[in-house]
Amino acid sequence: MPTVLITGAGRGIGLEFARQYLSAGWQVIALQRAESATLTALADTGSLDVLIGSLTDEAELDRALVPLEGRTIDVLIHNAGAMNDKGFGYFERENWHSIFDINVFTPLAISERLVDNVARADHGRIVTVSSILSSMEKNTSGGLYAYRASKAAVNAVMRSMALDLAGRGVTCAALHPGWVQTDMGGQDATLTPADSVAGLIQVINTLDADSAGTLIDWRGRTLPW
Ligand SMILES: NC(=O)c1ccc[n+]([C@@H]2O[C@H](COP(=O)([O-])OP(=O)(O)OC[C@H]3O[C@@H](n4cnc5c(N)ncnc54)[C@H](OP(=O)(O)O)[C@@H]3O)[C@@H](O)[C@H]2O)c1
Repeated sequence: MPTVLITGAGRGIGLEFARQYLSAGWQVIALQRAESATLTALADTGSLDVLIGSLTDEAELDRALVPLEGRTIDVLIHNAGAMNDKGFGYFERENWHSIFDINVFTPLAISERLVDNVARADHGRIVTVSSILSSMEKNTSGGLYAYRASKAAVNAVMRSMALDLAGRGVTCAALHPGWVQTDMGGQDATLTPADSVAGLIQVINTLDADSAGTLIDWRGRTLPW
């Protein structure tokens, strides 16, 4: 049974990843800062382990990941992320720190801790749910300073990881889920979590050396930086 680890699986896109991988018969490991009753209820549908701990604290990460020692992880999905921008004129250093903490530092910190687990898989993959809002070329509307910058930064992290880990058989990429109906995306978003995640899983399944280190949307299209 293949294994996927998903961060922030208690709601939104992460929860849908858990639902779809469970129904496909995968072992799902959820890593999140708090319990989620909706996620826990999915345990009836398949093999689910939930690890609880702060995702932005090194010592807590070390503690939360202890049960994974020696286990193979086929797919590692950095999904947890936050957006909190008020626009030009409202810079707050602490807000930038907290956005970069979860959107950029956490994917790298967890990848470093779990790379041996992913390298044990036949074709290990590490992906981060980034955003088209990271793209300089696609930025025609401005705003969202910390969020755009953080997702551009995590793209750079994933690009370097793709190059550094290829020799260990680990394929890394950044993904854009589309505009999705979640707490973050809002009700006007054009995609349901189910449609977005179905596409993203297809993209993850077909990641290869050519697509490693790129930003790919849920339809499998490569996006410009
Ligand atoms: N929705 C969209 O249209 C869209 C578009 C492009 C990219 N994305 C990206 O997709 C990913 C999932 O977003 P979503 O739409 O599902 O958002 P969401 O419904 O707001 O869910 C965010 C998830 O991230 C977790 N999270 C946020 N800050 C955290 C922190 N400091 N520590 C630990 N966990 C934290 C949340 O955990 P809690 O439940 O504990 O708060 C939750 O599981 C994010 O990386 C987002 O940037 C979303």
